[in-house]
Amino acid sequence: MTSLDLAVNEARERYRTARPESARLDVEAKTVMPGGNTRSVLDFDPFPFRVASVDGPYLVDVDGHRYLDLLGNYSAGLLGHSPIEVRRAVSSALERGWSSGAMRPSEIEFARLVCMRFPSIEQVRFTSSGTEANLMAIATAKHATGRSSVLAFHHAYHGGVLYFGEGGRPLLVPHDWVMARYNDLPSVEAAFEARGDDIACVIVEPMLAASGCIPGKPEFLAGLRSITMSAGSVLVFDEVMTSRLSPGGAQEALGITPDMTTLGKYLAGGLTIGAFGGKRELMSVFDPDSGGTLTHGGTFNNNEISAAAGIAALAEMLTPGVIETVNNRGDRLREALNSVFDSAGLPMCVTGLGSLMTVHVSGGPVQFPEDIVGSDDRLKELLFLEMLERGFYMARRGFMALSIDVTDEDLDSLVAVVSEWADRARGLSG
Ligand SMILES: Cc1ncc(COP(=O)(O)O)c(C=O)c1O
Repeated sequence: MTSLDLAVNEARERYRTARPESARLDVEAKTVMPGGNTRSVLDFDPFPFRVASVDGPYLVDVDGHRYLDLLGNYSAGLLGHSPIEVRRAVSSALERGWSSGAMRPSEIEFARLVCMRFPSIEQVRFTSSGTEANLMAIATAKHATGRSSVLAFHHAYHGGVLYFGEGGRPLLVPHDWVMARYNDLPSVEAAFEARGDDIACVIVEPMLAASGCIPGKPEFLAGLRSITMSAGSVLVFDEVMTSRLSPGGAQEALGITPDMTTLGKYLAGGLTIGAFGGKRELMSVFDPDSGGTLTHGGTFNNNEISAAAGIAALAEMLTPGVIETVNNRGDRLREALNSVFDSAGLPMCVTGLGSLMTVHVSGGPVQFPEDIVGSDDRLKELLFLEMLERGFYMARRGFMALSIDVTDEDLDSLVAVVSEWADRARGLSG
């Protein structure tokens, strides 16, 4: 066994010993839920800790450990764990009552705020999740164009049943998929040459988020815009993650306006939400007054609580200044961590944009998802477990999504702890 293997095993053992209550709950959970959970991404070895409560930007687990939350609920927690503005709006919505099964005024205001914010969205419809938003956007594009195939990218993640990475196939919804390589425009051109007449839409994340925070090259995304435009195909930007990167999303920062956009995550201040929208002409397939014949169901699409929370998030909290501050903070963190790994001579790097980032075991550069396929995961696991030990929580896969509650001082402490860890880790041999 190498010294790196040994260090990982010891870190797992220390993790396990320090968390008897989480260990007990893991066993109990597995009796009633396969794998012990209903959100696979949160699981990790030897078992996940379970959160008892939150305290400002900290999570407190059932064994009493406190962690600075750098994961930010995979981006849904942009506004923190329980922002007062959202709490107030939700309390007042609770007073008005929920589960009304009738239309209410608040979704109009929520929709207006979304349409005002994102350049491509003239009209919007809400869903309960980002996955549903993407399913609906694809269906809209297919119906509007009368075409049957959909171009997506290897390694992209558009939801639980729309995952094109390792292990995603068995759950993939059975559209006629045409696959291309992310950040590789010639592979898209080739697909359009072969199948262009039948490609209803291209669905793309402006930055591959779940598969490693790999930014789309501006020329790649601009290329998708011009290819789809000349082929009469709908360009769908999945901005479920990236819409937080500027007030009008990645599309505004890039100056590229897709035909449709999907949203989710933080949009309702951390409550359940998804949305899809775009050009009026496309969205009119749901408008009987304009001859639209599609219906869009969803018991909770117009739920009063998410609408109220969304209004508070967009109108009161997510000002351009707040968005700029959190993203600048992320840029500085990424730079600082990259320089720590560089100085330590560790084969690790951090990619991403603004407040979204992922740590990789790779000397870089990481420009394509294929650049990190099969990379040795042990250093990342060691970093993850040792950061937990020091009170910092990121995703097991190295992903971080800063919330607006995380301060510069918090990040200075993180960089100091990672730096100390990197000095020790460089002595380990694989
Ligand atoms: C880019 C992207 N699209 C879609 C989704 C799916 O959103 P949800 O988990 O709300 O279904 C995610 C979730 O991580 C995502 O990152």
